[in-house]
Amino acid sequence: MKALMVSADSLLHAEIAAQGAARMPGLQLVATRTGLREAVERPLDELPELAIVDASEVTAGEAELIERLCKLYPATSFLLLTREPPQELLIRAMRAGIREVLQLPLVHSAFHEALGRIELAAGRGQLRNGKVLAFISCKGGSGATFLSTNFAYALAALADKKVLLIDLHGQFGDATLYVSDQKPAMTLSDICAQISRMDGAFLESCLVHVASNFGVLAAADDPQHAVDMKPEHMDTILRVARQHYDYIVLDVGRQIDAISLRALDQADAIHPVLQLALPDIRDGRRLLDIFRSLGYAADRIRLIVNRYEKGGKLRLADLEQALGADVMHTVPNDYLSATDSVNQGIPVLQLSRSSTVARSLGELVELVTARRAPESKGLFDRLFGRHEAE
Ligand SMILES: Nc1ncnc2c1ncn2[C@@H]1O[C@H](COP(=O)(O)OP(=O)(O)O)[C@@H](O)[C@H]1O
Ligand SMILES: [Mg+2]
Repeated sequence: MKALMVSADSLLHAEIAAQGAARMPGLQLVATRTGLREAVERPLDELPELAIVDASEVTAGEAELIERLCKLYPATSFLLLTREPPQELLIRAMRAGIREVLQLPLVHSAFHEALGRIELAAGRGQLRNGKVLAFISCKGGSGATFLSTNFAYALAALADKKVLLIDLHGQFGDATLYVSDQKPAMTLSDICAQISRMDGAFLESCLVHVASNFGVLAAADDPQHAVDMKPEHMDTILRVARQHYDYIVLDVGRQIDAISLRALDQADAIHPVLQLALPDIRDGRRLLDIFRSLGYAADRIRLIVNRYEKGGKLRLADLEQALGADVMHTVPNDYLSATDSVNQGIPVLQLSRSSTVARSLGELVELVTARRAPESKGLFDRLFGRHEAE
C-alpha cells in the first residue's frame, strides 16, 4: 500500500516506515509533507492509497485543512495520529469521513490493527488459503505448548508467513505466556460469545500481537461455562482464519473436547508431540488409535519426538514400530534454552537463536513450508548468518 505521510516529526516518520515495511503486503511511505498546509498546497500527482496525518501540532485555525485534504484525495483512506486530540479537529475529521484515529505515542499493535481494518475496507486484504497445523501432547509435559508457540513464531519470523496461534485448552491454557508478557484482552470464549461479529478485522483485534505477522488467540477463560461454546463456532473461526492467515497453529493440549475435536477434524496436519520414553509411547499409542477410529488418514498424522537425545536405550525405530507411524522430526533436548525462554515468555528463536532447539525449529519450518535447497540456504543465513534482517 502506498502512503503519504504528513508529519514534521522525523522519529515518528522512521517508526512508521519501519512498522509499515514489516507488514505483508508492505506499507510504503512514498511522499512526506511536514504539515497539513504543505500537504494541501503541494498535492501528489499520483493519489496515495493511504494518508497518515500526524495532527499533534495542528492548531485550531488549521483544523479546516483536514477537510480540504480529504476532498483532495477522495479515494484515499486516512489515519489520523494525535497526542491530545483537540475537539474541533476530531469533529472535522469525522465529518470528513476519517474513521481511524490513533493516540501518540504509537502503540504498534493498535497501528497494525488499524491498518488491517483499512486494508480490509479498501478490499486490499488478499484472501489467503491458510493451512491448519495442530500440535497435541501425547502426555502432559511432552512439550506441545512449547513447540507449537515457538514453531508458530519461527514460521512468522523465518518464512515471512502470517501466522495465528489458537490456544484450544479448555482450561488453564498458557500458550500466550510462552511467547509474550501481554495479558490477553479477549479469549476464544469471548469470540464464541460474539460469533456473529466474526470477520478478519474482529479476529485480528482479539489477538495478543507477538510480532506484526504473528498473533495468539488466548484460551477460553470461562470456568463457569457462561458462554455456550459450540463446535460450529470453531468452523466459523477456522474459515475466517484461513482467509486471513497463511498458517493457523493449534495448541490442543491433552484433553480432546467437542471444540478441539472439531478443529482436529479440519486440520491439514496433526503433530502428536512425545518424548522417547515408555509412558509417552503408551499414551501416544492410545492417541493414534483414537485418530484411526475417527478415520483420520495416516498421512495427516506427523509425529514429533521432543527432547530427543541420541544413544538412549530406546531408539527412534522402536518408537516407530510401537506406534506404527513414522517420525517427522526430532527436537533435541535443550534444557537451558527452553527453560530460559519459557520463564521469560520470549520465543526461543529470539532469545537464543543459535541454540540447538532454535535450529531444530528452523528445520521444522523448512519441512513444513517445503522450501528446497537454494532457498533454504537463505533461510539459514537469516537464522544464523551475520547479516540478520532485523
Ligand atoms: N526441547 C526441549 N528441551 C528442553 N526442555 C523442553 C523442550 N521442550 C519443552 N521443554 C520444557 O518442557 C516443559 C513442558 O513443556 P510444555 O510445552 O508446557 O508441555 P505440554 O504443553 O506438552 O504439557 C516446558 O516448561 C519446557 O521448558
Ligand atoms: Mg501445554
